[in-house]
Amino acid sequence: MSASKLPPDARFATRAVHAGLEPDPHFRSVIPAIHQTSTFAQDAPGEYVGDYDYARTANPTRRALEDALGVLEGGHATAFASGLAAEHALITAACDAGGHIVLPIDLYGGTYRLVDRILTRWGLQYTMVDQTDLDALAAAVRPDTRIIWVETPTNPRLDVVDVAGVVERSGEALVVVDNTFATPVNQRPLELGADAVVHSATKYLGGHSDTVLGAVVVADPGLHEQVRFVQNAAGAIPGPMDCFLVHRGLRTLHLRMAAHGANAREVVAFLQGEPGVSDVRWPGFSGMVSFRHADAHAICTRTRVFTLAESLGGVESLIEVPQAMTHGSVEGSAAAVPADLVRLSCGVEDARDLVADLAQALGAA
Ligand SMILES: Cc1ncc(COP(=O)(O)O)c(C=O)c1O
Repeated sequence: MSASKLPPDARFATRAVHAGLEPDPHFRSVIPAIHQTSTFAQDAPGEYVGDYDYARTANPTRRALEDALGVLEGGHATAFASGLAAEHALITAACDAGGHIVLPIDLYGGTYRLVDRILTRWGLQYTMVDQTDLDALAAAVRPDTRIIWVETPTNPRLDVVDVAGVVERSGEALVVVDNTFATPVNQRPLELGADAVVHSATKYLGGHSDTVLGAVVVADPGLHEQVRFVQNAAGAIPGPMDCFLVHRGLRTLHLRMAAHGANAREVVAFLQGEPGVSDVRWPGFSGMVSFRHADAHAICTRTRVFTLAESLGGVESLIEVPQAMTHGSVEGSAAAVPADLVRLSCGVEDARDLVADLAQALGAA
């Protein structure tokens, strides 16, 4: 089946498998080719197929992925070289110098660094607020607020924010949701009234820890054009091979997310009874779990199935200490994370091996 023949009421799993896949027009290959090219032949000056004149502007492999992401999130998608490149493009498309943005108090360190260290130099102002407190959020929104940046679940503390509640209190501001941890399997922010979704597709969407890629998906065609304009003008595009890999990952997203969630449930049940472990957090879906332990660093060096590494969302389990690894850039800010916090990305191995691994790592603590 090709994506264009999908019944309009096809369910998520069916869309995940088929989204963005049209048989190749020349050879009918079911999976589109990886168009590893920088340019496209023209029949006469200015006469080319579609918008394929130069591969920064457009590439068929990238377009197939963007179509798929748009289908799964329910909007118009644009792919970027990384999640942060996607965030940068959306903020610069939507904000002017002097504008104001509301950030969550718990968020990916790189997002904070982008706003605090780069965009403020161009006049952007920001306020950080605990978005689980909707009254506090409403109080942080100003007449000049252009974006309310939501991360849910948050990285690394896994707070869950009521997206529809934020939308109700957003006034004229755009509501942008970083959907990296939840994925469209568990949460589709545009359906909840948000204006835009961003992804580090490096994580669950790609799902195999083999590429870095980002995406913006927006509801409004006008904003989509602005984001595409920045994509072409600034040029932070992903390569065709990376687009192919993420697109392949999307086809099993629903299966992987179910397995990640089932494993996280078992891991949480184990952790909750362990001496020395406190503040176990899991949003109830996805593979992300966090907990606190005085011996956080040593535990991370003892695991054998969980690899000590940054990133998340791949089929293999990872463990990290955010304060020393992914969240160094929020040290000393309102978003600083405790030194004894451990973050797990539960993969799709056998849950019994994950629990046994944590048991030996904690037991020796
Ligand atoms: C929630 C979240 N958003 C965005 C990013 C940035 O994505 P990338 O590393 O693909 O630039 C990350 C990276 O860890 C993340 O965890």
